[in-house]
Amino acid sequence: MEKKTMQTIHWFPGHMQKARRQMEEQLKLVDIVVELRDARIPQASFNPLLDELSAHKKKLIILNKADLSDEKENRLWKEMFEKEIPCLLVDSISDNLSKKLVNEIKEICKDKIERAKARGIRKKVIRAMIVGIPNVGKSTLINNVVKKKVAKTENRPGVTRSLQWIRLNEDVELLDTPGVLWSKLDDQEAAVKLAVLGSINDDILDKEELASYALDYLKQEYPGVLTKRYEISEEGDLLSAAAKKKLWLTANGEPDLKKAAEAVLKDVRDNRFGRISYEKCPAGE
Ligand code: G4P
Repeated sequence: MEKKTMQTIHWFPGHMQKARRQMEEQLKLVDIVVELRDARIPQASFNPLLDELSAHKKKLIILNKADLSDEKENRLWKEMFEKEIPCLLVDSISDNLSKKLVNEIKEICKDKIERAKARGIRKKVIRAMIVGIPNVGKSTLINNVVKKKVAKTENRPGVTRSLQWIRLNEDVELLDTPGVLWSKLDDQEAAVKLAVLGSINDDILDKEELASYALDYLKQEYPGVLTKRYEISEEGDLLSAAAKKKLWLTANGEPDLKKAAEAVLKDVRDNRFGRISYEKCPAGE
C-alpha cells in the first residue's frame, strides 16, 4: 500500500475550509452518508462538523475495526447509536461487506425508493458516500465492497479527482472517493487516544506521556492484561516497571523510558493486549 501522507498532514484553517466546502458539494449529490468511526474510540474518531453538514441526510454509522475492540463494548456502543441512527459493527479487512452494506442502505432509504416509485420513477438508484477522519478505514471499506483496488485516498482536502460512482448493485451507487474530515485535535482527550492508537502523528507529542496514559487506562479498565504481557504487578510507575521487567534499559542499566514508551505504543497499535476499547460506552457504566 502506498505510504500514507496522513501522518504529516496538518489541518490548517484554510485546509479545513476547503474540506468543508468540498464535502458540502459532495453531500448535495448523495442520498445517504455512511459515517465511519473507529470502534475502539467511537467518540474520539468523530468530527462534529459531519453532523452539522449532514443534518438533513440519511445516515448509517459504521463502527469499523470492530475485530480489534472489546465485544461487550461493541454491543453497547451499537445499541446506543441505534437509538437514533442505524449502526453496523464491521471488520473491513475480513468481513464480506458488499451485500450487507447494500441491504442496509436500501433499508434506510426505503421511503425514498417508495416515493420515487409513486412518482413513476421505476428504478431509483440510491447514492451513498463514505465519510470519516483519516485512518478509520475508509479506503479499506471501499476496497472491500468494490472488490477491486480503488486508489488510496489522499487524507487531505483539495485533492479532488473527478467524481466517479461505483455501482454496488442495480440499486446502489457509491462515490469512489471518501470524504475526509480532520481529527478532533482541539479535544485533548480525543487527541491523546487518536495518538495512542497511531491515528494521528505523534512526533510532536510526548511518547512517554502517551504510553503512560495507555498503561494507566489498561490497568484501570482491563485489569490483568499488563501482568500478562509484561509480568508486572499493576501498581506504581507502570512504564518504569515494564522497562525493568522487559530489560528496556539504558547503557548504565537504568529503565530506558523512551524505548519503553515506543515498545508499549507499538504493542497497543499491534493489538498485543487483545481486544480493547479505548473508550467505554457511557451506557455500560
Ligand atoms: P483511511 O482510508 O480511512 O485513511 O484508512 P485505511 O483504509 O487506509 O485504513 C487504515 C489502517 O487501518 C490500515 O492499516 C488498514 O488495513 C486498517 N484497517 C482498516 N479497516 C480495518 C478493520 O476493519 N480491521 C482492522 N484490524 N484493520 C483495519 P495499514 O495499512 O496497516 O496501516 P497502518 O497499520 O500502518 O496504520
